[in-house]
Amino acid sequence: MARVAIVTGGTRGIGRAICEHLKEDGFTVVANYGGNDEAAQAFTKETGIAAYKWDVGDHHATQAGCEKVTEEIGPVDVVVNNAGITRDGTLMRMTYEDWHDVMRINLGGCFNMAKACFPGMKERGWGRIVNIGSINGQAGQYGQVNYAAAKSGIHGFTKALAQEGARFDITVNAIAPGYIDTDMVAAVPENVLEKIVAKIPVGRLGQPSEIARGVSFLCSDEAGFVTGSTMSINGGQHMY
Ligand code: CAA
Repeated sequence: MARVAIVTGGTRGIGRAICEHLKEDGFTVVANYGGNDEAAQAFTKETGIAAYKWDVGDHHATQAGCEKVTEEIGPVDVVVNNAGITRDGTLMRMTYEDWHDVMRINLGGCFNMAKACFPGMKERGWGRIVNIGSINGQAGQYGQVNYAAAKSGIHGFTKALAQEGARFDITVNAIAPGYIDTDMVAAVPENVLEKIVAKIPVGRLGQPSEIARGVSFLCSDEAGFVTGSTMSINGGQHMY
């Protein structure tokens, strides 16, 4: 039977490309989404991939959502924690809600999904967790103390959980995308984005499929010795 993969924030942008690649790889893919019903319906119609709505920042909703997927589709073998939001602004302008929403969804979502799915992976002796971090979690970014902190947290979360999963054949890795051609990046003011792109050695934004290819590798059987790692896919914008 095909392994089941859940991709959070899977109906648009990078998440959608990940869903499509994992489906091509032979997984039974389920997309989670948080808000945009219209986009989710169009996604399911176009891809044939089921979409389930819940807020990954809500611990109990995530538990219930993953239970529903398990009952209706099957036990979850692969989790891709891709859901994320931005609430950009300098510290002086950032509200507590801007801080808290980003921490709750971007970082809390990874914890909630792992709590729901790790025990089953452990029981079955195989699992893949891929967390989508960010170049801005590695290097910081003006106007993003919330997002950079949450994404940086994802990298620490990845390394800690990798140590716990290793003896059960559960690998836990992160991908740190640079600036990718999605709605999230399109929301950056044009004059600011121009300056950012000028600093990307490859000279362009990345494409969602260029992140999805990395996820696809990390979810494969062949990647069983890769755990606790961060794959940076950023056009050379940040190297370390
Ligand atoms: N370093 C130093 N100073 C900077 C700066 C930087 N990187 N960016 C802006 N400034 C300065 C400006 O020069 C300006 O100074 P002056 O007033 O002296 O001229 C001052 O800061 C205010 O700049 P803005 O006019 O941009 O301020 P704003 O309040 O209108 O906007 C902002 C602030 C919302 C943070 C805006 O700069 C912005 O959107 N920046 C982009 C943030 C960003 O890159 N977000 C990434 C979103 S995509 C994503 O997150 C995906 C991913 O993982 C990569």
